[in-house]
Amino acid sequence: MSSTTTSPKNFIQGDIKARIDKWIAIYPEEQKKSAVMSALRIVQECHNGYLTNDLMDQVATYLEITPMEVYEVATFYGNYEHAPVGEIKLCICNSISCMLRGNQGIYDYLEQKLGIKPGETTADGRFTIKKVECLGACGGAPMMQVGKDYHENLTNQSIDLLLAEWEK
Ligand code: FES
Repeated sequence: MSSTTTSPKNFIQGDIKARIDKWIAIYPEEQKKSAVMSALRIVQECHNGYLTNDLMDQVATYLEITPMEVYEVATFYGNYEHAPVGEIKLCICNSISCMLRGNQGIYDYLEQKLGIKPGETTADGRFTIKKVECLGACGGAPMMQVGKDYHENLTNQSIDLLLAEWEK
């Protein structure tokens, strides 16, 4: 996850602006607002992994839509954060297939290893555990998403391997 020390004021500039502009260019000129999800993702990535009201307002201004249109998207989808999260966000599926295939054991094991429950962040700011809805990889239940990666058929052993990898 990238971060920046840029002040939240006039946040959409430089590289952030260029990345959003690439998405805007994909859509017809009058459909600039179609870039809202990508714009929120980019702003979130560049702001230590979470959005503030001020940043969402800036996205609205930049896309020439109302703040409410941005808030609706940013609060509907679970991939947007509204408070600081850990550097590594473990998004563990809490939907039916993953439940039936033992996701509770994964939560329990991670709590034992990291000392945090879902919704919490480790004291060092390294890990956050989050319960999320079905991520469309039910055949690999129980599973979790970390960044752009899906980790499926989770076991205590595979969790150990991932944690060791992240400690490097
Ligand atoms: S139920 Fe977990 S990925 Fe679908």
